Amino acid sequence: MTSNPHILIVGHVGQVGLELQRSFAGFGPVTAVDRESVDLADADQTRDLVRSTQPDIILNAAAYTAVDRAESEPAVAHAINAQAPRILAEEALRRNTLLVHYSTDYVFNGSKPEPWLETDEPAPLNVYGQTKLDGEQAIQQVGGRYLIFRTSWVYGPHGNNFLLTMLRLACERSSLSIVDDQFGSPTTSIELAQATFTIVEGILAGRFGAPRDWAGLYHMTCADSTTWFGFAQAIFARAAAQLGVNSPALAPLATKDYPTPAQRPRNSVLSNAKLLSRFGVRLSPWQSALDAVFQALVSDNVAPPGPTQTPSTQK
Ligand SMILES: NC(=O)c1ccc[n+]([C@@H]2O[C@H](COP(=O)([O-])OP(=O)(O)OC[C@H]3O[C@@H](n4cnc5c(N)ncnc54)[C@H](OP(=O)(O)O)[C@@H]3O)[C@@H](O)[C@H]2O)c1
Repeated sequence: MTSNPHILIVGHVGQVGLELQRSFAGFGPVTAVDRESVDLADADQTRDLVRSTQPDIILNAAAYTAVDRAESEPAVAHAINAQAPRILAEEALRRNTLLVHYSTDYVFNGSKPEPWLETDEPAPLNVYGQTKLDGEQAIQQVGGRYLIFRTSWVYGPHGNNFLLTMLRLACERSSLSIVDDQFGSPTTSIELAQATFTIVEGILAGRFGAPRDWAGLYHMTCADSTTWFGFAQAIFARAAAQLGVNSPALAPLATKDYPTPAQRPRNSVLSNAKLLSRFGVRLSPWQSALDAVFQALVSDNVAPPGPTQTPSTQK
């Protein structure tokens, strides 16, 4: 494949999109679009985007990620999370473009006690998870040179996420109750973008063989797991030490005592064994990845308070 590839980043102001821009800077010319320039809910705009930019690589970091709101907006969520990925895949196939797409741990119902494998049967509990699963299946049906990375509990130094919500709430509240019976792997946008770059660069360099050897669906999360409560504890320990933030008193909460419009899986920890065996890529443990985000917050002097979000839910 071509050197100096033309890269199209869709959703470049989202958490993952922002970090993809950093990781791929210098790899080739980048066209980065947001909702203002292209509305993925519009099929014609989505198709025209690829036809007019003619990219060698599409990195689709855009999605309808409001898990609770999706329950009351299933058609919009489906258009963005399922219809748009299908069109991107069709257009990618037409010109042999590499398509990278992200999906979610919420395709699973959470009933399995062990980490979920790519071969496990998805059974989403909510509209968001169903639309993301529909998007995965659409891309797989189209085929071609594609990678789908299922990830979980995404956060980073920027955007709307659990970490920044916790830091904001620390300034507003003296106590917080956080869900302690949902298990997952917090994963940073930084780790996701770096791992994506390593894999894409390797594919273009021919290190992973032909598309039949690497195209497919992979789990991609930071290593180890915790609950939202455990994640919050780790955040506040670092916030106190590095940002001088006063920690609120934390109390564990059961999911049944925190009703939300969208049901969430009890265990959505993903096994990353396939990613490691196929690409030799392993993301950091979530604890050291969290350290790296705090380093970024300290060095970027990022203001902690973010937009309002409930403390015990995720996207
Ligand atoms: N966040 C998580 O916890 C999580 C967990 C598992 C998987 N994932 C997956 O990881 C990927 C990246 O997630 P993220 O956390 O980076 O999401 P994010 O921060 O919410 O960013 C998503 C981006 O998509 C854009 N977008 C939404 N609707 C659009 C439309 N109609 N047209 C064009 N752009 C649109 C958003 O634009 P606006 O800012 O204008 O809305 C935003 O920039 C997604 O595929 C997501 O499903 C995320």
